[in-house]
Amino acid sequence: MKCRIDNSNCNEFLNFGRMPIANGFCSKKDFNREYFFDLKVAFNKKLSLFQLVKFPNPKKMFNKSYPFYTSSSFYMVNHFKKLSNFIKKNYMNKNSILFEIGSNDGTFLKNFNKKKVYGFEPSKSVHLKAKKEGINSINKFFNSKNIKILRKLYGKVDVIFGANVFCHIPNQRDLIKSIDLMLSPNGTIIFEEPYLGSMYEKTSYDQIYDEHIYMFSINSIIKIYDLFGFELIDAIPQNTHGGSMRYILKRKNISKKSKRVKKLIKLEKIKKIDKFSACLSFKKKVIKSRLNLRKRILNIKKKGFQICGYGATSKSTTILNFCKINNNMINCIFDTTKDKIGKFTPGTHIPILNYNKFKGSHYKYVFLFAWNHRKEIMKKEKARKNTKWFTHLD
Ligand code: SAM
Ligand code: TMP
Repeated sequence: MKCRIDNSNCNEFLNFGRMPIANGFCSKKDFNREYFFDLKVAFNKKLSLFQLVKFPNPKKMFNKSYPFYTSSSFYMVNHFKKLSNFIKKNYMNKNSILFEIGSNDGTFLKNFNKKKVYGFEPSKSVHLKAKKEGINSINKFFNSKNIKILRKLYGKVDVIFGANVFCHIPNQRDLIKSIDLMLSPNGTIIFEEPYLGSMYEKTSYDQIYDEHIYMFSINSIIKIYDLFGFELIDAIPQNTHGGSMRYILKRKNISKKSKRVKKLIKLEKIKKIDKFSACLSFKKKVIKSRLNLRKRILNIKKKGFQICGYGATSKSTTILNFCKINNNMINCIFDTTKDKIGKFTPGTHIPILNYNKFKGSHYKYVFLFAWNHRKEIMKKEKARKNTKWFTHLD
């Protein structure tokens, strides 16, 4: 395949098989019309870029029933509050305008003067929640066509921000060109995305699903943005979503690079994160992890125990379908999201039950699919004794 950014060659190296939409939690009536695609990954040596070979049209995922609400995690609400203070202090003044791409239910934008901030959010479910909070949420994809409605702001936006969304956007050329049009000459691009280095370290292959078209690293971001006249001035590792990276970029030659980013670039080279060889060792670990997980679940079942899941995450779709785990192996998954409760997991049809029922339930073995929220969940569940929590990462 050819890289979608610079048309250079990519090497395909891992096939997860037929996969449904990760957030496509469905009702019984939809079982026969679920959409599937081949989830395969490739690496582009020139840009050091890890990417999906094929993916569904974004409109299939980001629409009126998109069920992921940022505010479902107190930890993330707090994270975005702290992040907004960091941005206000370092990259904004009282007149600055900020744009968020993928503003979801407005959790991040709520922390700013609402008159000065705008969000682009194509999924109506979450957009409506943001509107209720008084956020300037525009129910559209951020792209060169849709930003035309804000032409009067071209060149005037001081910060363009996104979290867990840049990697969702297939056309990175259009994304960066649109940012270039909106951003003021001294403006800053700030985004946080799941980090390839963390995925390699943990073998958290469940980060790979339809929405994550790209898995960025520092080296890949430097190479991509260099093509468009931007340079990375800082990068700050984050614990969120199982290991993310915050990238901070400006137009070339206006700001110094931080010492931290220089160190991180070297570290990536030492770990060979920018090389294809890292993909091949990751592949070996993924295959071993699948074997181990299936063995573990079947052993628990052999001993006569039932298993439930905790957190019907988008990531769980990759684990369940890739490892062929069905509703005989995991009885149900408890979740707090009202749009998921009463539905079934995509492809594997495990029922999703209201989290309220977890407290009185008998399960001794709990698969923590929301492992990236472990700290918050363990705090909440500390009264629950004799429970054996496990994940595919243990
Ligand atoms: N930023 C929030 C966070 O970190 O919790 C939401 C992340 S969610 C995984 C991705 C969000 O980006 C969804 O709400 C989705 O609708 C939105 N999105 C996807 N593609 C987009 C695009 N091209 N422009 C703007 N938003 C987009
Ligand atoms: P995410 O990993 O994509 O952020 O999804 C987390 C899912 O886990 C989401 O459906 C909400 C659910 N969840 C709970 O059910 N209980 C919790 O305490 C937390 C933090 C999340």
